[in-house]
Amino acid sequence: KELRHVESMAAFPSGAGNIPHLNAVILGEALASEENDLIFPSRDFCSQALIPSPQKYLEMYKRSIEDPAGFWSDIASDFYWKKKWGHQVFVENLDVRKGAIKIQWFKGGVSNICYNCLDRIIESGDGDKVAIYWEGNEPGADGVLTYNQLLQRVCQLANYLKDNGVEKGNAVLIYLPMLMELPIAMLACARIGAVHSVVFAGFSAEAVAQRIIDCRPKIVITCNAVMRGPKIINLKDIVDAALDEASHNGVTVDTCLTFENESAMTRKATKWQAGRDIWWQDVVPKYPQVCDVVWVDAEDPLFLLYTSGSTGKPKGVLHTTGGYMIYTATTFKYAFDYKQSDVYWCTADCGWITGHSYVTYGPLLNGATVVVYEGAPNYPDSGRSWAIVDKYKVTLFYTAPTLVRSLMRDGDEHVTRHSRKSLRVLGSVGEPINPSAWRWYFNVVGDSRCPISDTWWQTETGGFMITPIPGAWPQKPGSATLPFFGVQPVIVDEKGIEIKGECSGYLCIKGSWPGAFRTLYGDHDRYETTYFKPFPGYYFSGDGCSRDKDGYHWLTGRVDDVINVSGHRIGTAEVESALVSHPQCAEAAVVGVEHEVKGQGIYAFVTLVDGVPYSEELRKSLILAVRKQIGAFAAPDKIHWAPGLPKTRSGKIMRRILRKIAARQLDELGDTSTLADPCVVDQLIALADC
Ligand code: WTA
Repeated sequence: KELRHVESMAAFPSGAGNIPHLNAVILGEALASEENDLIFPSRDFCSQALIPSPQKYLEMYKRSIEDPAGFWSDIASDFYWKKKWGHQVFVENLDVRKGAIKIQWFKGGVSNICYNCLDRIIESGDGDKVAIYWEGNEPGADGVLTYNQLLQRVCQLANYLKDNGVEKGNAVLIYLPMLMELPIAMLACARIGAVHSVVFAGFSAEAVAQRIIDCRPKIVITCNAVMRGPKIINLKDIVDAALDEASHNGVTVDTCLTFENESAMTRKATKWQAGRDIWWQDVVPKYPQVCDVVWVDAEDPLFLLYTSGSTGKPKGVLHTTGGYMIYTATTFKYAFDYKQSDVYWCTADCGWITGHSYVTYGPLLNGATVVVYEGAPNYPDSGRSWAIVDKYKVTLFYTAPTLVRSLMRDGDEHVTRHSRKSLRVLGSVGEPINPSAWRWYFNVVGDSRCPISDTWWQTETGGFMITPIPGAWPQKPGSATLPFFGVQPVIVDEKGIEIKGECSGYLCIKGSWPGAFRTLYGDHDRYETTYFKPFPGYYFSGDGCSRDKDGYHWLTGRVDDVINVSGHRIGTAEVESALVSHPQCAEAAVVGVEHEVKGQGIYAFVTLVDGVPYSEELRKSLILAVRKQIGAFAAPDKIHWAPGLPKTRSGKIMRRILRKIAARQLDELGDTSTLADPCVVDQLIALADC
């Protein structure tokens, strides 16, 4: 009888229909966990978990797939809507063969995400609950805002923006470090229906300029400077240069609202352009602490976030209001098994999608207490993260594998000298977490007590797609496990044919989910071409994935020309274009190479203009060109001098060969006979260590 129950799970996502281990758990057969490499949540954890068993997950998952409209509208009903959505909960076409790609959720519904994050929580009686604990770069520098206080700050800024001409639908570019003012600025835009575009404060002036030119913001919000570890970074200088560059390209921004971060730099030391620049502290606090909400349609844009692709310039990923709100709130709640008493810390910067969905929106929509940390996780020493965990009694800790690996290298004592007993659930994001780092995170950081949510998702997906739900099923170190509610992962072969059962291939998604991005800003064609044309009928993620016999998913990394460095997405084309902008560089080809801490490093093959000799100085100036065009985080780890690049007779660079040379897998170069000039391979190998 029970086995029949199991068979009826065939309705589940391809391959997850047959999950022997889950079945075994359902049947109550304890499995030898070590042998199967399965790690079970403790009985204690399960008994208090929101989703305490595989049955519960399967029941909810089944409904989310069979009746997405009912499943998501039940959840959406817990939020505040000025007006309910129309009778159709969602409209979708993900198949290019059937016409334009279209995704809409809760269309006709009128709401506001800022209202749902703040006013709604306050009305429920939690106004005095801490919304944000802010921890500065220097130990001892800190601050706190309750939900009431956060709302007041948000309203003041929203009033300022309105008063300075920002209207519904206008873009506002935010270039701020992890100060409280960053989530405040995001929420203030959302409150008045303005579209924020946060640019990570590690991007260079040229990268900021490119984004200003693309989204034409009404106002730019920044601060004068920030301390990152012992280093001061002058953000205002970067913004000044970006604004100059943009105005040379015909895009002028009238107002640059600048927060004075006095711990890093004084007003006097800050360069100033009177008329355009204005100090935040001089104007914002004068505005009223209440501000009417501008109600928006569920499908009105909430934000733009630029991300790298395999070709061309960065893409402005556009998210809308209603679906994104419901999706980030729900994924946060279940993937972290959120309880009202939790204190949550995500180490990501709001300049990336993780900081949008899981520093700002997802947690605040749940009324959570969030830690926002300004500094570097290993400053002044490797134990800083755990000092912060102990200081605020953090229960949910979410970070990237690169940090786990770097702290692991620094030694256990930095961890074990801190208590960490408040921790309950750990999270991982940004790149595959290798099993050894997973085990260290689990055993040393979490004292073998805290489940790890290894969340697979993307800027484009808005929220978690494949993720453990702690308490619901056993984990496997290194696997993101099973799909979230409403998500149908599909693995396809080169021809786009779905492969079922145990397999590996390209990871696609069938059907839409509320948090999906709706377009690329100003370029719906590119949206369709990049994501929906490669495998018609599906959304293509750009990732490779395998699925094991138990239906667990194992992400294997990007299959396109995107490199993932410390969880930051970098397009090889962008780095190449920065390199060739150098007057002495004739051609460049960039590939990813395995890196012990960063996951992947950037490896650049560079051909110089005829007659230019190789030199250390030139190497440095090439790297500087990348830092200037993109930012320090995109600087190549290695420049490999290349008298020529391996090309086919039609002139296409054979990156496959370059990847093997970069990885020094010289016996795996494969067939080089189709190259226009096979000798270049030997020349490259000869120069490998120059
Ligand atoms: C990778 C970050 C394996 C993946 C949220 C994806 C992951 C890209 C994981 C998106 C994970 C993210 N396991 N790989 N748990 N999470 N990735 O847009 O290659 O900055 O396509 O979003 O990061 O990066 P993005």
